[in-house]
Amino acid sequence: MAVVSWKEICLLTGLVVGCYWNSLFCGFVFDDVSAILDNKDLRPTTPLQNLFLNDFWGTPMSEERSHKSYRPLTVLTFRLNYLFSKLSSSSYHLLNVVLHAVVCVLFLHFCRLLLDRSTSFVAALLFAVHPIHTEAVTGVVGRAELLSSIFLLAAFLAYTKSKGTDHSIVWTPIISTVFLVAVATLCKEQGITVIGICCIYEVFVAQGFTLPMLTHTLLQVLRGKDGFPYAVLQTLLKLIVLIISTLLLVIVRVQVIQSQLPVFTRFDNPAAISSTPTRQLTFNYLLPVNAWLLLNPSELCCDWTMGTIPLVETLLDPQPQISIFGLFICLIQIFSLFLLSFSHGFKLLSQRGGLKKMSWLLMGILLTTHAVKTFNRNWDWESEYTLFTSALKVNRNNAKLWNNVGHALENQNSYERALRYFLQATRVQPDDIGAHMNVGRTYKNLNRSREAEEAYIIAKSLMPQIIPGKKYATRVAPNHLNVYINLANLIRANDSRLEEADQLYRQAISMRPDFKQAYISRGELLLKMNKPSEAKDAYLRALELDHSNADLWYNLAIVNIEMKDPSEALKNFNRALDLNPQHKLALFNSALLMQESAPFPSNESKRTKSSLSDKLALYITKKSRRSY
Ligand SMILES: *[C@@H]1O[C@H](CO)[C@@H](O)[C@H](O)[C@H]1NC(C)=O
Repeated sequence: MAVVSWKEICLLTGLVVGCYWNSLFCGFVFDDVSAILDNKDLRPTTPLQNLFLNDFWGTPMSEERSHKSYRPLTVLTFRLNYLFSKLSSSSYHLLNVVLHAVVCVLFLHFCRLLLDRSTSFVAALLFAVHPIHTEAVTGVVGRAELLSSIFLLAAFLAYTKSKGTDHSIVWTPIISTVFLVAVATLCKEQGITVIGICCIYEVFVAQGFTLPMLTHTLLQVLRGKDGFPYAVLQTLLKLIVLIISTLLLVIVRVQVIQSQLPVFTRFDNPAAISSTPTRQLTFNYLLPVNAWLLLNPSELCCDWTMGTIPLVETLLDPQPQISIFGLFICLIQIFSLFLLSFSHGFKLLSQRGGLKKMSWLLMGILLTTHAVKTFNRNWDWESEYTLFTSALKVNRNNAKLWNNVGHALENQNSYERALRYFLQATRVQPDDIGAHMNVGRTYKNLNRSREAEEAYIIAKSLMPQIIPGKKYATRVAPNHLNVYINLANLIRANDSRLEEADQLYRQAISMRPDFKQAYISRGELLLKMNKPSEAKDAYLRALELDHSNADLWYNLAIVNIEMKDPSEALKNFNRALDLNPQHKLALFNSALLMQESAPFPSNESKRTKSSLSDKLALYITKKSRRSY
């Protein structure tokens, strides 16, 4: 095996830097926002062990709203970036570019195992400039893919050293492989798949079996004619070690997600919840779609959920040939192998004298167009607005994209323009609850309460309906339940509709007895309705669900004041202050309270008691930034 030279490493690195230096000017977009900006696991104040208890977005794995993606080592590298440059995005992008260069060099090592010198180098060059990698390099959360690729390639390269010169088993590389696979899996879950590739390599490359040979040997053994040949026994032993370690990794992973699956809406993967044969046909259709993107990466899009890929209902749909073709594409779907066969063809071509120059020229053109496309594609990732508008050019049926352009405009307070995008989202996906909620919120921001209410009512009608007397069984995406809260918050502005608002909070609570926000909002309403003892119950319920929320203890204290129980109020103010010593409202009101109970009450303190609802801490329902 020819080694990789320094010259090649420098060339590859130079090429990667040339294609990606402009990504340093990009901000945090799309999933970066929840994984980096909103992720408290990046802050030095969060204990390190939390990284191993929380998911990729900083939510405890044990919570239902957790996405269940477990990538603690990737989060650890984000944390290093944070230590270095807080939330300035260029250091994060720089590290991604460096990691991509490392992946390219390892990929060249990998190709060297299977191909000759020049072919493998061409393959690595193509890999380095291919525009499809912008998702992983320019999107900061793509760090998970980069790290996982580094460790899985390293795992595979280690495995290739597990066969000694005298055909014995060398155990150190095998142990390294298992370790590196575990590391790759802690960077991103797909890392584990490399074990399959190691198994295939072992049987068909290292041992040189062909399928007929394999069946012949197995048949001989089954008929009892032969014992296992020594080489077969060796292979079996290695495979067993690999498979057992995979199983162990899978068991650990299942423990980590605590045997709960994440809650997805039916929009995340419409094919997965379709019936047979639509599901199978659509899944097969996805393979050629991916293969086509590799060959023709001119129309890249950052999100493929919702209506992007139409469901394939029958073989007579417009794409029937392609979906059968998809079965064959399975064989070449692994990107690297695909690339390899491509550059292999290039090699054969280039050996025929006259064609040689021609093929080098074509190759040069291909590399240049790819590099230019990659460089330009990076600009799309500059901001959320540019990213999602670029995606809409490729695909106008995905409501999430319309919603996200709307969110980008909403963040700039351009509500009128945002509204147009949210309305378009409801047109392309009329049953998208989140889109109707966005429309409602924007109307509310535009002070058009009547239209806002209409939008919320549509969203509510799309929720699974409760059957009286039956336990609510369907799992609802927690975000969608906010429609009850939003609608209630809207209509309680009208003093004659307080009962109606309370009804909505109670409905939300009946659907999700652990819906903290519903208790909190209901508590506020009940206070406004002059029902302090019921408000107290609501806050006590919310506190059962979240004991460490300073605002909740503070609100409870306000209820205590209302119920003329100053000593209890003081106790609860102090609990709030224990949890958050800088809780301004708690500091202020407990000071007032102590002043009042002092022998000479001042007139001033009396006045503050009147505007009770002003004193309630403000809760902002944390909306998931992605799509809703
Ligand atoms: C408040 O609600 C009542 C009853 O639904 C309605 O008649 C009235 O017009 C509403 N007031 C405002 C200001 O919207």
